[in-house]
Amino acid sequence: MLSKTGFDLWANDYDQTVQLSEESDLYPFAGYREILNTIFNEVMQINHSTVLDIGFGTGVLTNKLYENGHQMDGIDFSAKMIDIAQSKMPDANLIEYDFTKGLPNEVKEKKFNSIVSTYALHHLTDEAKVEFIKDLLDLLAENGKIYIGDIAFETREDLETCRNNHLQHWDEDEFYFVYEEISASLKGFCKCVFHPISHCGGVLIISK
Ligand SMILES: C[S@@+](CC[C@H](N)C(=O)[O-])C[C@H]1O[C@@H](n2cnc3c(N)ncnc32)[C@H](O)[C@@H]1O
Repeated sequence: MLSKTGFDLWANDYDQTVQLSEESDLYPFAGYREILNTIFNEVMQINHSTVLDIGFGTGVLTNKLYENGHQMDGIDFSAKMIDIAQSKMPDANLIEYDFTKGLPNEVKEKKFNSIVSTYALHHLTDEAKVEFIKDLLDLLAENGKIYIGDIAFETREDLETCRNNHLQHWDEDEFYFVYEEISASLKGFCKCVFHPISHCGGVLIISK
């Protein structure tokens, strides 16, 4: 699993790495653009909304939303990623913070129409994901939704099939979403639906 320093070092080449993996339709980034576009189109249903992006990286999705008039807050622990993203979005509120420690006080005081996170929350264990999502639910404005685009599978069996097909590149330190498991853990707290998009990625939509 990459540390803060690892992400700092990756920041300048990040967009290119993603593009190569995506264009080859390979794990981990197969479907990347469609996943981000799906979330973009959902958030765009409300004009000039408030959006929190967790682990925004170079700001590919965040910046598209920013340019379309949304008020952006974001959390990321890589100072280098923040530099790149902030240079694109001078008025966005981008906070340097490690989400394994929960949420910074600054965002706890706010409410958001949408909370988005792409390719970041697989750094949390499955247990920690559930606790973090419960914390995020408290930040939603009325009818707000959480959109998680990530390496994700309908079942554990689908994950294992992908792992066996990509053994050389598989990152054993990351915890990918398994819809049938996370939806069972979140049952009773919120609604959760999954839209598979590529052989290794999709979008989870979570609402109260
Ligand atoms: C693979 S990149 C995804 C960037 C962007 N969301 C995208 O879809 O292209 C993961 C991002 O999450 C951030 N990140 C990873 N672990 C984090 C943590 N514990 N706290 C805050 N940010 C973290 C990294 O710094 C990086 O910018």
